[in-house]
Amino acid sequence: MPDYSAYAPGKVILFGEHAVVYGQPALAVPVQQVRARAQVSAGLGLPSGMVRIDAPALNLSTPLADLPADQPLAAATRLTIDRLGVLHPPACTIRITSTIPLAAGLGSGAAVSVALIRALSAFLGHPLDNQAVNDLAFEVERLHHGTPSGIDNTVITYAKPVYFEKGIPGDAAAGGQPARLETLHVAAPFTLVIADTGISSPTAAAVGAVRTAWQADREHYDGLFSQIGETVQSARMVIERGTPDGLGPLMNTNHALLQQIAVSCPELDALVDAALAAGALGAKLSGGGRGGNMIALVPSASEQTGAQNPAAGRIAAALQAAGAVNTLVTTVTS
Ligand code: PMV
Repeated sequence: MPDYSAYAPGKVILFGEHAVVYGQPALAVPVQQVRARAQVSAGLGLPSGMVRIDAPALNLSTPLADLPADQPLAAATRLTIDRLGVLHPPACTIRITSTIPLAAGLGSGAAVSVALIRALSAFLGHPLDNQAVNDLAFEVERLHHGTPSGIDNTVITYAKPVYFEKGIPGDAAAGGQPARLETLHVAAPFTLVIADTGISSPTAAAVGAVRTAWQADREHYDGLFSQIGETVQSARMVIERGTPDGLGPLMNTNHALLQQIAVSCPELDALVDAALAAGALGAKLSGGGRGGNMIALVPSASEQTGAQNPAAGRIAAALQAAGAVNTLVTTVTS
């Protein structure tokens, strides 16, 4: 049996994190500079039927049968095997590697799930299509944090800029509805600097804290979420119109709203300030917050794209001087 490998990119949320959990729209884009890889190979020398999972970064090298049901790699593996109706999978080793920083808002968990589901389903002879991969990756996300919107697995599975609204579970008669997913047309490319505070911040904890605060004062939080939703709609128009510099003020507005829902932190705020002082047109935290990453918008007048862009280099240097442990420059295109 040949080896099968699959990759999945990282992602950043441009606008709408947290509010998306409460039904507001959000925009997210893949980040191709970092990625997760899953490789499935026939388990030569393994006992018959043994599925082994190796993830060196997690210090994991364990038979599937010894992993708990809520371990995300085990869950992705079991869900894939069940979905394909394979009763006796052949002995194999699933090896996971990733250059996506963990717990930093870059979608490492979802990317690992997507890569694993793709590689394993191909190895088992039935490569799943994007929709099926996305559905299974969403199931795994639910184990990570109880109420995910599904935006991470979706943008990573389709590897395209997306406009996303979460679905409501249940059938239509009971008020359920599927997630709304639209490909975002990026009429003019724009460049972002992504900077990592180095503070590990699991999404589940941030989402849980927001839920507790929302339960205590629904009216106030619903108001903030709908203001975030309006920012998202404006940002979508700006991106589709091809005037990306207009995203700057909207990023600043979205960051201020995220501060009000208490998911920023002094380190993120310091990076946002440093980026603006270095010429970024706007900046905000990205993802779960309370650590992890922020994004800064590079003026589009700077002619080159990507890492060669001198304005991006200046902003990245300023972010490092302000304490970022890692920076990444990415150009968003359709
Ligand atoms: O995985 P992160 O840290 O980028 O956060 C996901 C975005 C949230 O809106 C905070 C949660 C969700 O499920 O949408």
